Amino acid sequence: MSDKAHLTRQYSNILVSETENPKALKVGLIRLNRPDVLNALNIDLMTEVVEALEAFDKDSETGCMVLTGSKKAFAAGADIKEMADATAIEMLLRDQFARWDRIRKIKKPIIAAVSGFALGGGCELAMTCDMIIAAENAKFGQPEINLGVIPGAGGTQRLTKAIGKARAMDMILTGKMFGAEEMFIAGLVTKVVDSDLYLEEALEVAKDIASKPTVAVQLAKESILKSFDSTIESGLEFERKNFYLLFATEDKFEGMKAFVDKRKAEWKGK
Ligand code: CAA
Repeated sequence: MSDKAHLTRQYSNILVSETENPKALKVGLIRLNRPDVLNALNIDLMTEVVEALEAFDKDSETGCMVLTGSKKAFAAGADIKEMADATAIEMLLRDQFARWDRIRKIKKPIIAAVSGFALGGGCELAMTCDMIIAAENAKFGQPEINLGVIPGAGGTQRLTKAIGKARAMDMILTGKMFGAEEMFIAGLVTKVVDSDLYLEEALEVAKDIASKPTVAVQLAKESILKSFDSTIESGLEFERKNFYLLFATEDKFEGMKAFVDKRKAEWKGK
């Protein structure tokens, strides 16, 4: 279903657009847009991000999404001013991370295009995406320790899984920032690009993914994410079921026939 309401509705904290992709599905682009506070992630912004992602996920003309900030900051973390006076019970009742859980349910791939600061919740938001393409000037960190708290949007879990205990302990216990190249070597970042080209590159990667057979892309993402909370045995079973399921798609027959016929496949997205 293609409903473009998410492209025309008024957002206050993000900018939403789509990028044409000749002969393939489009790419949905979401820009965090609270420049005065380095894109600090308040509840309203996160609500809009989640709603825009869900709308692109439902839109049959979209194949992949890119989430980005500004040159200076992807996001400098959860909005400290919004939390400064909050009590434990208020935080519990606010349940602000329920929005973040909805990002985990997005089926299409999301690429984070990161320039400048990706700190605290900003680093965690990038990690909820499926790939991180970073500008050379990007700086990643989990400085919550300096505020008397710890990462609360998945940082202790996703960072540890991405870069291992030794480095995650260093980042989270010291609160220091680490550069893009170091985070690439550590395994957090997919690719480091020139600081003027990071968004262009992320859009290119997204367009490439959007030109692949849709169902296979979604089941590949689902299978990879499954590895984070399953044993090797159940993960392999899950992968196998998804592999067999793809033999029910028209694109599987087209893809294999095109290979045999030595021609380019024409995907139907089903
Ligand atoms: N929340 C609210 N406002 C923020 C913010 C945040 N996370 N980060 C920056 N801002 C605001 C600043 O208060 C400042 O506003 P004013 O002009 O009104 O004073 C504006 O953005 C610009 O920031 P700076 O003047 O500090 O800019 P700088 O270039 O000197 O420093 C920085 C940049 C190093 C990123 C610094 O802003 C900083 O340390 N920010 C906080 C980073 C942080 O601690 N993030 C973790 C938040 S907690 C969290 O994320 C919990 C979780 O796990 C979900």
